[in-house]
Amino acid sequence: MIVSVRKIVFVSSVLALMALTGCTTPSKEKAPQDTEAVKTEKVKAAEEKPAEVTAETQTKAETPAAVEAPAPVEAPAVAEVPKPKAGAEEPFFEPNLLSEKEVVHPPFEWGDCTVCHKDKNPDKSKNYDLIMDTPDLCYQCHDKDLKEGKKFIHGPVAAGACTACHNPHKSPNKRLLVASNINELCTSCHTAKGEFLHKTDNIHPPVKDQCINCHDPHTEDYKYQLKADGKKDLCLMCHADKKEWIEKAKNKHGAINRPNGCQECHDPHGTGQPRMLKADSIMNMCLTCHNEPLKRDEDGVTLINMAKHLEENPDWHGPIQWGDCAMCHNPHGSPNFRMLKKPFPSTFYASFDVNNYICFECHESKKVTEERTTEYTNFRNGTKNLHYVHVDKKKGRTCRACHDFHGTKDYPHHLRKKTKFGKINFPIRYIETPTGGSCAPACHARRYYDREKPIVNTK
Ligand code: HEC
Ligand code: HEC
Ligand code: HEC
Ligand code: HEC
Ligand code: HEC
Ligand code: HEC
Ligand code: HEC
Ligand code: HEC
Ligand code: HEC
Ligand code: HEC
Ligand code: HEC
Repeated sequence: MIVSVRKIVFVSSVLALMALTGCTTPSKEKAPQDTEAVKTEKVKAAEEKPAEVTAETQTKAETPAAVEAPAPVEAPAVAEVPKPKAGAEEPFFEPNLLSEKEVVHPPFEWGDCTVCHKDKNPDKSKNYDLIMDTPDLCYQCHDKDLKEGKKFIHGPVAAGACTACHNPHKSPNKRLLVASNINELCTSCHTAKGEFLHKTDNIHPPVKDQCINCHDPHTEDYKYQLKADGKKDLCLMCHADKKEWIEKAKNKHGAINRPNGCQECHDPHGTGQPRMLKADSIMNMCLTCHNEPLKRDEDGVTLINMAKHLEENPDWHGPIQWGDCAMCHNPHGSPNFRMLKKPFPSTFYASFDVNNYICFECHESKKVTEERTTEYTNFRNGTKNLHYVHVDKKKGRTCRACHDFHGTKDYPHHLRKKTKFGKINFPIRYIETPTGGSCAPACHARRYYDREKPIVNTK
């Protein structure tokens, strides 16, 4: 045998290396930022903020017009996540395997047919008998280990059917393949995947490109001949930006540490849903786990059963009506309290800082910062802004003192029934009037506000 087996081994490993390192994908999400960075970012976001949810538009909340709002509102809420790079749609390997010139297998080109055939001239004698069966025929020169030496061996390779995919003589396609497109080759046997590719919208781009971006056609150490563990490591090979998030973010999401990793929420090939999610909306995805109290990994604090909370409190906050929990939470982790995309104070009282409220991504901050107003909020006594009174101070109350951000039932304006202060739940006993309202939490006696005829509260 004249062929240098070592050379083949070398070429093969270079090819394998190229396949591994050629794997690049545009980075979409920035590494977790500290609060400082988020703040400067926010100033920019605020400038491009296209629309505000003002007191006026909110009163129309139940009309379709308000529900159409997600488009303008979305931009600032996801400001941290840069736009995909131009050209993200382009294939990043070589899906077209059609070779510029015909590929001829060297032993065939040499003309010594007896390397593989018993007969010197099989063409003329019509005796095509091989000197031995595949794959051993091929292993005369090719390294057996590279084809089946790892833990998981692809069905046809294990069966020795090398010629199911390669023409032993010549081919118009690279790697002597019998098809000019990898996905056609794979789906010629994996017909169910082929049907799936044709009928499903929003296929994962590397799948549309070519199956071997993730699967080795011969053998690999990971189940399904994947190039890395398919639950998480494989994904992070290309989505390196997510690695930063899930490893470095201060508040990590327990979902990703569950046994199926990224696949808890995403299907690796596609689902027909945006972002290859396994549920028909982001909210329903979240509620597959948040349908029971869950404990935070960091400190064991129990989180409420969100599905139950939403079921019992059907007046849902706008973004939840749209089914999009990810407008506020980053499902991959975040440096902020409760994995929020922007900061929000974690305590009942907080020194007011306009940059510390994710709320102002969608709501006008002036509803809190203007001491006197007739337009920015309805929570005012005459022109005296009661949001300002309660929130905008050194020991300001955070929005949670009065509002629930997911869903409510008893009062309008997402006012909560009870406010948790320390270990005690105080009922706020809100009463609305056409021009104002009143409440009587334990913090003070019943106090009234009226936008038209300001009320003097004596106690
Ligand atoms: C690297 C090994 C190898 C070499 C070298 C080789 N053949 Fe083949 N040949 C095969 C295999 C394997 C098959 C069976 C193909 C199959 O299973 O579909 C085959 C089949 C054939 C057939 C049957 C029809 C067909 O194309 O499937 C002919 C004719 C043939 N070879 C001619 C030749 C001639 C002539 C040469 C020398 C110029 C040659 N082969 C060199 C491996 C080889
Ligand atoms: C007599 C030695 C020999 C035998 C037997 C042999 N090959 Fe090869 N094969 C080679 C050489 C030499 C190359 C070229 C390697 C290179 O480019 O460095 C090659 C290359 C290939 C390539 C890559 C072609 C490309 O375009 O990159 C494939 C695929 C391949 N062989 C498949 C097979 C299969 C399948 C069999 C068994 C049916 C087989 N070989 C049997 C010597 C052999
Ligand atoms: C299911 C289809 C399939 C089967 C079966 C198959 N191959 Fe391949 N083979 C491929 C594909 C696809 C590539 C191209 C991989 C790439 O470009 O990264 C390839 C590449 C190769 C190459 C060149 C690059 C390398 O990895 O060394 C050789 C040599 C090769 N195959 C040999 C074999 C041998 C020998 C067998 C039988 C033991 C076999 N193949 C069985 C699909 C197959
Ligand atoms: C010649 C037919 C054929 C071709 C072509 C083929 N496969 Fe397969 N594939 C099989 C068979 C047979 C099995 C084993 C099925 C089993 O064990 O249930 C298999 C198994 C698999 C598995 C593991 C599935 C499981 O449930 O364990 C994956 C992943 C896979 N193939 C991917 C591919 C990819 C990617 C390609 C294209 C490079 C490809 N196949 C091309 C026949 C083929
Ligand atoms: C982005 C990486 C990636 C690409 C590209 C990819 N797959 Fe997969 N594939 C996976 C992962 C991850 C699994 C394991 C799923 C699991 O753990 O249940 C898998 C599993 C499979 C399986 C076995 C389980 C099943 O879903 O039936 C088959 C068959 C398969 N892939 C075929 C293909 C084919 C065919 C292509 C090309 C059309 C392809 N894959 C492209 C990542 C990928
Ligand atoms: C708890 C469910 C969940 C888990 C687990 C999860 N994701 Fe996501 N992922 C989502 C949701 C929801 C979106 C859509 C976010 C949006 O629209 O803002 C998304 C979006 C994405 C996107 C596209 C948009 C972007 O932010 O770049 C990528 C890429 C992604 N996820 C990768 C991963 C990877 C890699 C893992 C594993 C490390 C993972 N995801 C784990 C829920 C999840
Ligand atoms: C071979 C590289 C590669 C691998 C491996 C890979 N991806 Fe991707 N993925 C991409 C590319 C390229 C895009 C399209 C550009 C983008 O959105 O970042 C993409 C997009 C996505 C998207 C957004 C899809 C959409 O609808 O916008 C999600 C979600 C995603 N990948 C999740 C995953 C998960 C989960 C895994 C692991 C099972 C994974 N990816 C493995 C390359 C890869
Ligand atoms: C696969 C199960 C699973 C899914 C799906 C899931 N989560 Fe979680 N989530 C958890 C677990 C477990 C915890 C508690 C462990 C931890 O993160 O510390 C948690 C914690 C949280 C926390 C508290 C984080 C903190 O730092 O205090 C928030 C907020 C959250 N999830 C929101 C979501 C949102 C929004 C979605 C949908 C995009 C979602 N989850 C989907 C399992 C899941
Ligand atoms: C408008 C922004 C916003 C949206 C949309 C949103 N959340 Fe939240 N979420 C928050 C804020 C703010 C907190 C912190 C609440 C607190 O500590 O008072 C929070 C807290 C949580 C917690 C922790 C609750 C606890 O017991 O401390 C979970 C779990 C959670 N959200 C899940 C979800 C899910 C699931 C969705 C979608 C159904 C969702 N969130 C939608 C803003 C939002
Ligand atoms: C992603 C955009 C978004 C974010 C972020 C957001 N909201 Fe909203 N909010 C809306 C939309 C849209 C409405 C109108 C629909 C409704 O009544 O829920 C609304 C309505 C409200 C209402 C009721 C208005 C009324 O008069 O009925 C209150 C109170 C409220 N939000 C408080 C908050 C608080 C507090 C935060 C911060 C934790 C916040 N929102 C963050 C989009 C957002
Ligand atoms: C002390 C209780 C209290 C606190 C704290 C509070 N709110 Fe309100 N908020 C109200 C009341 C009461 C209304 C209803 C006003 C009306 O329509 O009569 C309201 C109404 C709203 C509305 C509907 C539009 C409007 O302004 O009339 C939004 C949006 C809102 N609040 C956001 C917030 C945000 C964001 C925070 C935290 C920065 C916050 N609120 C803190 C009591 C409070």
